[in-house]
Amino acid sequence: MSHTVFLINGPNLNLLGKREPEIYGADTLDDVTAKCSALAGPAGVVIRSEQSNHEGQIIDWIHEARETSVAIIINPGAFTHTSVAIYDALQAYEGLVFEVHISNVHKREAFRHHSYVSARADGVLAGFGVEGYELALRRVISLLG
Ligand code: DQA
Repeated sequence: MSHTVFLINGPNLNLLGKREPEIYGADTLDDVTAKCSALAGPAGVVIRSEQSNHEGQIIDWIHEARETSVAIIINPGAFTHTSVAIYDALQAYEGLVFEVHISNVHKREAFRHHSYVSARADGVLAGFGVEGYELALRRVISLLG
């Protein structure tokens, strides 16, 4: 049976490839999903990829993942730095959680240095560009054995 990994992207990441390309690069979210799916397929993993600008929708997807997904790879965007509710939803999820930031948030404004999600994450990647998503997925695949 194939495993599902849920790739969840938060606010403004629908603009990936267009928004501040000097920080976030030229790849779109569709490019990211395609690269992750290509990596996942041979490992018997299916990628479900969603993006929302709405905190409640992200929480609903995390709840859905409780029933459907062995791992969540999440870039919560700015909700990283503000959302206790996303942290609580992840606490209620029993699978693997990897937090990805395209930019190195620690090299940026001080308000980006704190993440509510990191206290729940099994691993955190920041500053690897969009390759961070694939690196997180490689780790999930290796942990799944
Ligand atoms: C981000 C970093 C956040 O601080 C920011 O609000 C984003 C994107 C990143 O991928 O580098 O929207 O999560």
